[in-house]
Amino acid sequence: MIPISKPQIGEEEKRAVLEVLDSGQLAQGPKVREFEEAFAAFCGVRHAIATSSGTTALVTALLAHAIGPGDEVITSPFTFVASANSILSVGARPVFVDIDGRSYNIDPDLIEDRITPRTRALLPVHLYGNPCNMDAIVEIAERHGLAVIEDACQAHGAAIRGQRVGSYGTGCFSFYPSKNMTTAEGGMITTNDETIAERARLIRNHGQSQLYLHQTMGYNFRMTELQAALGLVQLRKLPSWTQKRIENAAYLSHRLSNVVTPQVSEGYLHVYHQYTVRIAHDRDGALERLNQAGIGARVYYPLPVHQQPLYRQLGFQDSLPVAETASQEVLSLPVHPALSEEELDKIVSEVSKL
Ligand SMILES: Cc1ncc(COP(=O)(O)O)c(C=O)c1O
Repeated sequence: MIPISKPQIGEEEKRAVLEVLDSGQLAQGPKVREFEEAFAAFCGVRHAIATSSGTTALVTALLAHAIGPGDEVITSPFTFVASANSILSVGARPVFVDIDGRSYNIDPDLIEDRITPRTRALLPVHLYGNPCNMDAIVEIAERHGLAVIEDACQAHGAAIRGQRVGSYGTGCFSFYPSKNMTTAEGGMITTNDETIAERARLIRNHGQSQLYLHQTMGYNFRMTELQAALGLVQLRKLPSWTQKRIENAAYLSHRLSNVVTPQVSEGYLHVYHQYTVRIAHDRDGALERLNQAGIGARVYYPLPVHQQPLYRQLGFQDSLPVAETASQEVLSLPVHPALSEEELDKIVSEVSKL
């Protein structure tokens, strides 16, 4: 089977982890700080705060913006459930706005209709590694005095005219093994706002400003030194992996003619966490045939968040037709940097037979 994702762990990563094990400093320390500085520089922001996962990055970011019970946060229904669950987990209510069917990202034209006096933040998701329309989103947020929290968990290095995602608002990244770079589990918050950065650092570590002095409510959402050591090596390799993902995506798009291939806006850098095509007729049959032929195609995501059993139980009754249709028609194909030309050709040949 050609897998949909493949973590790239080399000798350098192994050495870096072993060095940490030998050092005796295992929990959050100097490696975490070094990784934070490197990641902040990579995103072009002043501060980065490492966390235990992308989910805890999102929760910490929401709490740092003082979002809680009674507040509403506008987000996409077409995403991994963590984007919306993080909003629920701080006691706020996600408000779902439909996507545009070309980028699969939240449609900025539909946002303003859903803003109420309770709205506190916009939480766009850069799905599949393709940036949301941040010019429009930031403009709406500024006009209504809302925070912007970017779910960039799938979009390390994605950019619009050179400005990287995670630098438009408060960015949240994941380093889960399937992501474009990994620390096994792990996450990162990015921001230019000193106050948000300081609050996020406190929340991630039991509100502790100095040893056993606790200023605010907080949690143990810390990253370990082992994860940070892995992350530092992976971050150095990320640009060449991203380049390979973009080349693989171009290779597929030039050769596939019977499916709708990904569309990228002018000036946008899509980092192809997923290479997602659209198949209007019998997507599920196509998925099965590809899997049987040894192509690890997957569907992200077969059920939009507002239709998940949890959200139905909570009373969400939205009708979001573009997201609902996309969930029936999308199919992601392997695009990861370890693919060989033979594997790419096999993907092309099997998809062309559909
Ligand atoms: C869009 C999105 N948001 C949030 C998350 C949560 O990240 P994590 O799995 O690291 O908690 C993920 C990844 O799994 C994701 O893809």
